[in-house]
Amino acid sequence: MAKTLIKLTVNGDEMEVAVEPRDLLIHTLREQLELTGAHIGCDTSHCGACTVDLDGRSVKSCTMFAVQADGAEITTVEGMAHADGTLHAIQEAFREMHGLQCGFCTPGMIMRAHRLLQENPMPTEDEIRWGISGNLCRCTGYQNIVKAVQMASETLSQKVAAE
Ligand code: FES
Ligand code: FES
Repeated sequence: MAKTLIKLTVNGDEMEVAVEPRDLLIHTLREQLELTGAHIGCDTSHCGACTVDLDGRSVKSCTMFAVQADGAEITTVEGMAHADGTLHAIQEAFREMHGLQCGFCTPGMIMRAHRLLQENPMPTEDEIRWGISGNLCRCTGYQNIVKAVQMASETLSQKVAAE
């Protein structure tokens, strides 16, 4: 099938990618750009393992064609750590609070938490649970993910206050 050239900014890097109209964004990210952090956990748009941040929104990249992302700015989990290799506060909090086990949901969960904390920097427990309700986890029972998001919320707001 004929390919279309699309422009993307992924984790700060501008690039052009040739995609078929039927290519799902998750497949373009994983197979063409080799950003294999985002995962595929379902084929019905429920699990959220494929979540990336696209133009300031959490998007399930299994439910978007790559051509629809033409011109978009995308952050994947690979773009979260700082340039010097230190972890982003959300990544650090997931480690500290044991918010992951198999790690398969984690890239999507972290990308969702990233956007959630920009939408609502100091969420209540209920708001966190509702805010990540598009992301399924089969391992943790969610409790430690909630604690991780709470910890990240505190760290990030202290950072903002100190600036
Ligand atoms: S792979 Fe399950 S929602 Fe995208
Ligand atoms: S840590 Fe295994 S699915 Fe969430």
